[in-house]
Amino acid sequence: MRLNTIYAGDALKVLKSLPSESVNCVVTSPPYYCLRDYNVVGQIGLENSPEEYIKNLVKIFMECRRVLKKDGTMWIVIGKAWIEQPARNKRSVWTVPTRGFKGTHFATFPPDLIRSCIAAGCPPDGIVLDPFMGAGTTALVAKELGRNYIGIELNKEYVKLAEERLDFGFFY
Ligand SMILES: C[S@@+](CC[C@H](N)C(=O)[O-])C[C@H]1O[C@@H](n2cnc3c(N)ncnc32)[C@H](O)[C@@H]1O
Repeated sequence: MRLNTIYAGDALKVLKSLPSESVNCVVTSPPYYCLRDYNVVGQIGLENSPEEYIKNLVKIFMECRRVLKKDGTMWIVIGKAWIEQPARNKRSVWTVPTRGFKGTHFATFPPDLIRSCIAAGCPPDGIVLDPFMGAGTTALVAKELGRNYIGIELNKEYVKLAEERLDFGFFY
């Protein structure tokens, strides 16, 4: 398993190649059902039925669970709005404004949203995994907080974009 790497490939296939109980934290936002076309064969989200979509996501998250250490944490963002209560304990729904990122046509994670997940859910020097890495926000935040990352992304253009962001920082 290579640390601080974004694997270009299908999430399920790559996850199956990772050792059990090897990562501390999973942070991810999977494709939503029938909302976007990521222009790549094998993408999740364009299945013929919601049942098929859920079946595919369940397979992915079963593998994430296998790969996660026993005391690991998993954070799944599956909605278009996140709610945060400033200066108070987090509630069960957090609202944080989303933003697009040039070069993508999907909303990238707001870094503030996942900073809390990684800071609370992964020890320093631990490993954060994102099986749907997109433009690489999880990796950027993990790096900023002194954690290692492993990303998986099917669209090679996004892998390139994420690597460029990792080289040049958030404002690239
Ligand atoms: C909602 S976006 C993730 C955005 C990411 N959180 C960010 O901040 O940039 C979902 C991503 O999943 C990728 N994807 C779709 N099907 C996939 C699959 N089977 N394996 C790996 N990645 C996949 C898409 O290309 C897209 O980049």
